Amino acid sequence: MHTVLANGANIPAIGFGTWTLRGDQAADLVREALEAGYRHVDTAVMYENEEAVGEGLKAAGVVRDDIFVTTKVWPTDIADGDLQRSVEASLKRLDLDAVDLALIHWPSKTVPLAESFKALNEVLDRGLCRHIGVSNFTVAMIEDAVALSRHPLACNQVEYHPFVNQAVVHQACRKHGMAMVAYCPLNRAGVTFAQAPVRAAVEAHNRTPAQVVLRWHMQQDGVVAIPRTTNGQRMRENLELFDFQLSDDEMAAISSLTSRNQRQCDFDFSPEWDPAPA
Ligand SMILES: NC(=O)c1ccc[n+]([C@@H]2O[C@H](COP(=O)([O-])OP(=O)(O)OC[C@H]3O[C@@H](n4cnc5c(N)ncnc54)[C@H](OP(=O)(O)O)[C@@H]3O)[C@@H](O)[C@H]2O)c1
Repeated sequence: MHTVLANGANIPAIGFGTWTLRGDQAADLVREALEAGYRHVDTAVMYENEEAVGEGLKAAGVVRDDIFVTTKVWPTDIADGDLQRSVEASLKRLDLDAVDLALIHWPSKTVPLAESFKALNEVLDRGLCRHIGVSNFTVAMIEDAVALSRHPLACNQVEYHPFVNQAVVHQACRKHGMAMVAYCPLNRAGVTFAQAPVRAAVEAHNRTPAQVVLRWHMQQDGVVAIPRTTNGQRMRENLELFDFQLSDDEMAAISSLTSRNQRQCDFDFSPEWDPAPA
């Protein structure tokens, strides 16, 4: 598995996303993912599946240190004290001593960032996580977070696929040595797959649309992707990305689709997103 090195964190470049997966299905899929070769699993308190994810991790029998586990704290729990308790509860559900990465899931409009970062740094100091980071942060928020945090940040996890322009966020992440972890990397297997530049690369390389899109992520500096699937065949397909290469022209053609700037995850509590560069 290729990895992205980000401020000391060695993050497997493809992770297994688990949003919407629950119960036995989640446990079975996590086990199956690890058996298929995944070494990075993404969960969150909000997904209500940490217990099942923990069962899947255990069932696979892979050495703990070989797996990179991320969880996220929901923004209603990022005040000092609440955040620490949230991570402790996650560890209990996951049945782990520490997660590899603890993230603030979304920025809060009410809790001061300084307070959240005091708490998040303390979680790391106490060994409850190995690295810390953020999710859904804008460039200005990344700058504030980096200034406030004693420990370096490993990543900003944001929606990133060929229909979303994240150029300025990507640039800010790299400036600070952070990975940009792409969620909804397949745009939920929607219309992106039918776009001409994706179709052309599918034909040229005899690959599936998902592989072309994920390969597009893999060829960008410091980018990690965490696709989700409930299908064992597609799970393996989403890992088979490292024996072909998109040309510069193919990369540029797929990147040109980002001018649409259409998000899957845009809620009333979302921050005001950075405008795409002109
Ligand atoms: N930080 C955040 O705020 C945030 C927000 C959203 C998501 N996330 C994380 O990112 C992960 C991924 O995002 P997502 O689950 O929303 O979307 P996604 O990974 O872009 O798309 C998942 C969809 O794509 C399909 N799919 C997967 N592989 C495929 C393939 N090879 N060919 C065709 N279809 C395929 C799946 O269907 P099948 O199951 O039928 O294969 C599923 O419907 C989440 O699970 C979660 O861990 C984080």
